[in-house]
Amino acid sequence: MKSLQEDLHQRYSLQAKWTKPFRNYLFSKLPVTENLNILEVGCGTGAILTEIQSVFQGSIKLISGMDVYRDSLVFASSKNKGSFIQGDAHLIPFVDSCFDLVYCHYFLLWVQNPIEVFLEMVRVTKKGGICAVMAEPSYDEMEVEPADLQNLALKQKKVLSGKGANINIGNTLYKLFYEAGYSDIEFGRYKELESDQSYLIYEIKQMLLDTKENYFELHSNVNYTYNIPTYYAFAMK
Ligand SMILES: C[S@@+](CC[C@H](N)C(=O)[O-])C[C@H]1O[C@@H](n2cnc3c(N)ncnc32)[C@H](O)[C@@H]1O
Repeated sequence: MKSLQEDLHQRYSLQAKWTKPFRNYLFSKLPVTENLNILEVGCGTGAILTEIQSVFQGSIKLISGMDVYRDSLVFASSKNKGSFIQGDAHLIPFVDSCFDLVYCHYFLLWVQNPIEVFLEMVRVTKKGGICAVMAEPSYDEMEVEPADLQNLALKQKKVLSGKGANINIGNTLYKLFYEAGYSDIEFGRYKELESDQSYLIYEIKQMLLDTKENYFELHSNVNYTYNIPTYYAFAMK
């Protein structure tokens, strides 16, 4: 049987696959490509850090992931080089201006005070470095059909919201960057994320888990739409 961390890692790796084209673009904007210092805030099991290590290979000086959840960090460090640090992103345990790239991915929706966390991310970014919020959802804009799938998705939305998630943070990212003092901000919404049958099955599994519902029947003769609009933003400090 798979461990909880393996399950989480599988999910995070799938999400990382959807957002990879954005990262390829983001990396092309990095002002330096040697001796890179990189930090992922809320790194989970390290799915993206693994990808970054293979993209930049010999060009990384320091790669670091931080998270509040120790078990995920232990898993991440078993699969990655680099330093993994347990901490709360409301107080990032690094001195000012030390990273060329600071990013997060499906993360700000989970924190208590996204503005405070984002300002911490900016603080530890070097002047000329990039701060990137790679993917955050906006559940109020969801496009889900037909009605039975929509009902399940609405229940999930309610559960996530009840757990304190900032479920509509995605479309506020421009404002977040602007209020942190950035003016040259690249902000956008992903084109509909990959939505083939296996992805849908995966998402339904997650919705059933979140909502504690027992069952959802997929019919081969029905066209399903499942799109939770997802946004990104980045800027150079
Ligand atoms: C949905 S996961 C995303 C993991 C990773 N960024 C990825 O996309 O593969 C969100 C992560 O944020 C972490 N987290 C939530 N609140 C946090 C906080 N205040 N400080 C640091 N990590 C936090 C959780 O423990 C979890 O690992």
